[in-house]
Amino acid sequence: VAKQTFLAFPWQVRPIITMEQLLWVSGGVIGEVNTFRIPLIAATPQGTLLAFAEARKYSSSDTGAKFIALRRSQDKGATWSPTSFIVDDGSLVDGLNLGAVVVDSEKNIVFLIYTLCAHYNRCPVASTMIIRSRDDGVTWSVPRNLSEEIGTAMFAPGPGYGIQKRYEPKKGRLIVCGHGTIDRDGISCLLSDDHGWTWQYGKQPLHGIPFGGIKHPSDFNPDECQPYELPDGSVVINARNENFYHCSCRIVVRSYDACDTLPLENVTFDETLVDPAVAAGALVKSGLVFFTNPAHERERVNMTLRWSFTNGSSWWKEALQIWSGASGYSSMTALDGPAPDDAHSLFVIYEKGRVETTESISVAKISINGKL
Ligand SMILES: *[C@@H]1O[C@H](CO)[C@@H](O)[C@H](O)[C@H]1NC(C)=O
Ligand SMILES: *[C@@H]1O[C@H](CO)[C@@H](O)[C@H](O)[C@H]1NC(C)=O
Ligand SMILES: *[C@@H]1O[C@H](CO)[C@@H](O)[C@H](O)[C@H]1NC(C)=O
Ligand SMILES: *[C@@H]1O[C@H](CO)[C@@H](O)[C@H](O)[C@H]1NC(C)=O
Repeated sequence: VAKQTFLAFPWQVRPIITMEQLLWVSGGVIGEVNTFRIPLIAATPQGTLLAFAEARKYSSSDTGAKFIALRRSQDKGATWSPTSFIVDDGSLVDGLNLGAVVVDSEKNIVFLIYTLCAHYNRCPVASTMIIRSRDDGVTWSVPRNLSEEIGTAMFAPGPGYGIQKRYEPKKGRLIVCGHGTIDRDGISCLLSDDHGWTWQYGKQPLHGIPFGGIKHPSDFNPDECQPYELPDGSVVINARNENFYHCSCRIVVRSYDACDTLPLENVTFDETLVDPAVAAGALVKSGLVFFTNPAHERERVNMTLRWSFTNGSSWWKEALQIWSGASGYSSMTALDGPAPDDAHSLFVIYEKGRVETTESISVAKISINGKL
């Protein structure tokens, strides 16, 4: 386990943006791709950053044919490789949707999980697909159809990253959480205890209410989600509150058994994390919990970074505004290397625009302690 630096005091934590660049711009200017959406980012044990996005070929629609776009950075986000398209779904009417990236740091493998036919739009069966890289994201395996072992209920991972348990219980387990449609109602997690060879769903998902039924405004409908592990070995899943049950804020569920169960008794609502129903970012870094989202009750604007000194049970009174304008989905990662810079940096990737959130995907490097 790498030596960890903890930032325990408010005066040590003064986040600033030290670098920002657009990785993808929509509008047919990159590979004739209509729209880039759903950004993911991961850091490998070698210190490479991998940024992924859906490259929607012909329109901005969630359905339609897509590529998965990838750019790599080997210098901590300063420069990025040209875009490579690592998956191509051809001309599917209801093509691929991202997705979650999960890094097995023990075995040095990066997995990317995505869905085909997530909307049952002129296709009868949804498939959960996985690809794998053993060389730091340079080359990728052919897609494997996980539905052959986990079934064909629709499962939309993330969007965000999956975790590898660092602490007991189930140290080393890979956990990828996501949401389903009515078939697989609410939030569930895919688990692997053998470094990604086999996967199964946890025993007890967090169902929506009414269970198995169409949801109406104000119903309990936990949706896109991001897990993170706390130092006591519990896993917190921070979720989109699709139908604004109880509040325009985030649903939080905490699992004490490595996501075998997501118990209803441990669901809370984080009223500080005001949210317009969107995929948000959450990350544990240097003893703090960080959270990003468009901090607004109804609109996707004002990409904001918050931090917590209390394992996410409360949030520091100040926040960092990353972008005041149109802001959509976001995700975070951090490097785990020995450089002091690594302990004090995190990377936020997010949908950014002047008018529409779908205009571009940007990555911001944040210095947590405010030093350049
Ligand atoms: C994946 O496997 C399932 C279950 O066998 C099957 O129904 C589905 O068609 C497969 N999907 C793809 C893309 O091959
Ligand atoms: C719910 O959380 C409490 C701690 O607040 C924990 O002791 C309990 O085991 C959890 N319940 C389940 C079913 O995991
Ligand atoms: C942006 O979010 C911050 C943090 O929640 C808040 O203080 C600020 O008022 C928000 N600004 C707008 C324009 O919503
Ligand atoms: C966070 O959780 C860890 C592990 O349970 C605990 O040691 C620490 O005191 C907690 N921090 C706060 C501020 O509650």
